[in-house]
Amino acid sequence: MVSSTLLPSAEESKLRLNALYGPIGRDLQISEKIFAEELGSRYEFVQTLVDHAVSLRGKQLRPALLFLTAQACGGVSPSHHILAAVVEMIHTATLVHDDILDESQVRRHSQTVNAAWGNETAVLLGDYLFTHAFHLAASLETTLACRWIGHATNLVCEGEMMQVHHRGNLDLDESSYFEIIEGKTAVLTAVACRLGAHFAGASEVKVAAMEAYGRDLGVAFQIADDVLDLLGDEKTSGKTLGTDLEKQKLTLPLIHLLENGSPDEVRRIRALVADGSDGVRHTLRSLLEASGSLDYAWQKAEEFADSARARAASLPPSPAREILMNLARYVVRRSF
Ligand code: IPE
Ligand code: IPE
Ligand code: MG
Ligand code: MG
Repeated sequence: MVSSTLLPSAEESKLRLNALYGPIGRDLQISEKIFAEELGSRYEFVQTLVDHAVSLRGKQLRPALLFLTAQACGGVSPSHHILAAVVEMIHTATLVHDDILDESQVRRHSQTVNAAWGNETAVLLGDYLFTHAFHLAASLETTLACRWIGHATNLVCEGEMMQVHHRGNLDLDESSYFEIIEGKTAVLTAVACRLGAHFAGASEVKVAAMEAYGRDLGVAFQIADDVLDLLGDEKTSGKTLGTDLEKQKLTLPLIHLLENGSPDEVRRIRALVADGSDGVRHTLRSLLEASGSLDYAWQKAEEFADSARARAASLPPSPAREILMNLARYVVRRSF
């Protein structure tokens, strides 16, 4: 039986991530600078909000994917630094809006924008981030990146809308779940990899392989995030957890449990989910563990990670390719 103690410690997760990011440290610094410069405002209040968004660094997974695919496909150029800032800005915008929807209080070990300044300000800061992302992407000579990122962002919004639409739907099936997470999460990791490869001069075949790598990795990443929402520790993850349950957004472990439990079990679980009070997460956790539904979710995440690794393996050997392969393993077992 898989137990939550099998989640790596915060220190272990941090060390593994630092090791993977080693060769792109300088590139990340450059894109962080572009990110902060792009968002600067003449108004002190707006600048305070921007500083909040700029100072709270997340894992920078999407910029990391973009740089690593670039390295694996021919090398990082100034366009990549701009594009990395753009994808991180889109990602940050989706988080600022997502925290309003989930009524989350904590993100990146700090207060969320909605908790600190209210929903109105958070809606507008999210818009400010989205519009700056496209403003920045339009500084490239070609409009191609704008178009790809625009399309990806459309799909992310669709995914979030479908998730809201299915709130409270305790009959959500696995294929609808996968459609939602592909939209809200995997499309953005996919476009980060597509951009990394294309702007490094890769062939269309390689660009498509890298996009597929990013999509598979993104699905694995979101399954793991959904497990973390049920099992994780808020101090370690640095964000409010349990909101999927609170908002009655069914995720893979629970979908599996509802589809495979006995009629009595299913009745009890449906009542627990509908109840949604404090303590439900704890009760469900033991049920999910005992039934093998957590194992099932992890196994699915591993399958997507393996598929991502196979796609990366189609590139010629290089240190960056090895990191892409290791990153696909990292995203499944993590504590934040
Ligand atoms: C959180 O993304 C939202 C999801 C798509 C699961 P990250 O876990 O990449 O968030 P940060 O950027 O590290 O804070
Ligand atoms: C949000 O998914 C994904 C986005 C596209 C913003 P979650 O709601 O699971 O993300 P967290 O757990 O709040 O980071
Ligand atoms: Mg959320
Ligand atoms: Mg989550």
